[in-house]
Amino acid sequence: MTKLWGGRFTKQAEEWVDAFGASIPFDQKLVEEDIQGSIAHVHMLKNQEIITEEEASEIHRGLKAVLAKAKNGELEYSVQNEDIHLNIEKFLIDEIGPVGGKLHTGRSRNDQVATDVHLYVRNHTQTVMNSIRALQQALLLQAEEHVETIIPGYTHLQRAQPISFGHHMMAYFWMLERDYGRFEDSLKRTNISPLGAGALAGTTFPIDRRQTAEELGFDDIYQNSLDAVSDRDFALEFMSAASTVMMHLSRLAEEMIFWSSQEFQFIELDDSFATGSSIMPQKKNPDMAELIRGKTGRVYGNLMGLYTLLKGLPLAYNKDMQEDKEGLFDTVRTLEGSLDIFAGMVETMEVRTEKMAETTSKDFSNATELADYLAVKGVPFREAHEIVGKLVLDCIQNNKYLVDLSMEEFKAANGAFEEDIYEVLKPETVVSRRNSEGGTGFEQVRAAIEQGKKVINQT
Ligand code: ARG
Repeated sequence: MTKLWGGRFTKQAEEWVDAFGASIPFDQKLVEEDIQGSIAHVHMLKNQEIITEEEASEIHRGLKAVLAKAKNGELEYSVQNEDIHLNIEKFLIDEIGPVGGKLHTGRSRNDQVATDVHLYVRNHTQTVMNSIRALQQALLLQAEEHVETIIPGYTHLQRAQPISFGHHMMAYFWMLERDYGRFEDSLKRTNISPLGAGALAGTTFPIDRRQTAEELGFDDIYQNSLDAVSDRDFALEFMSAASTVMMHLSRLAEEMIFWSSQEFQFIELDDSFATGSSIMPQKKNPDMAELIRGKTGRVYGNLMGLYTLLKGLPLAYNKDMQEDKEGLFDTVRTLEGSLDIFAGMVETMEVRTEKMAETTSKDFSNATELADYLAVKGVPFREAHEIVGKLVLDCIQNNKYLVDLSMEEFKAANGAFEEDIYEVLKPETVVSRRNSEGGTGFEQVRAAIEQGKKVINQT
């Protein structure tokens, strides 16, 4: 079979060489974007009187027919035609005859592929932003239900101070809000049209780049034709923002994994997001959370792959750039799947409030409270810290907790202790009193939830 660009060649490549160079096995994913871009191009060619009205409507009809076949899975792609662009052009010519060959007037595959990838990234940025919102919604629901549910807060994975479980959920809500903002911001640079840049230098045809940009919903056009076909920064930005989301999900995954362990028993995952063991009948494994923690690696890898791919490339298009796609597609699939799984997993998890309550009634996470208590009464904080440290040691040695100390024992440690100390030591008191802005105090958490709702309702 002769190639669409075969004129200058006297010999054909062997099939296995074609197969090695082809991108059609993976870039067929871009079929809708490719046809959308072609339709805008053909409208513009007609408006600019570069092709006739009849030619344009034939091509338009043909492209729609090819698209319909694509959607029905009726197209038989061929590596002979290398990529999605040449495959579609070939199908078009088969459909409407030689006039189909006019579609590529004033255009190159270099601006065409860049346009397709821009459209793809733009569309998926919007999908991802919606999925982030859905997960934030699930976190908000859990937060709202658990403002007054208390868990130990950790530093160094050692119990530090008790906190509201709602506060913990909202920490992830705000991380995801930054993620949302990163995607929103990257859209400004993604939604720019490279179409009309030609192979690298523009074209002699009187094209109107702003017309195609407008039809495709782009906000602007690239200012420089070389930059337009060479740029993949927008894909890097997407993959970088994706890596940060995955890092956040992976941290939450890690917490959900140990929260659901026998040792913690803070949550129970819904059966629909857990799996059993083929040998140990008692097991309920948090597979989805583990898998997402694991998949974070490939998303980082895809980002590094694209950075490395681009670093040595001279302007403008180089075939190396065909390698931009598989990692990008993989990142999109992984990220979208992970966000959707997480939304379901967070929404359906059962929070075991009684287990959580048990933990903070039997630990030393209220020790700071005691030191603060003395500090308020005028004892320098450093001294108060020392006094409480000794009390904790004493408790550990005698197998008890701070609430178990008698008034005499407190008095013996420091005369400033009074009867109200027992109230101060209660986990609910400890948490509710941390009412500084952004703290875990119940009032603060409620305000943060309201603020969070406002933020997501604005978009
Ligand atoms: N399959 C190519 C890619 O994905 C399309 C552009 C090819 N352009 C060229 N001059 N070979 O990057």
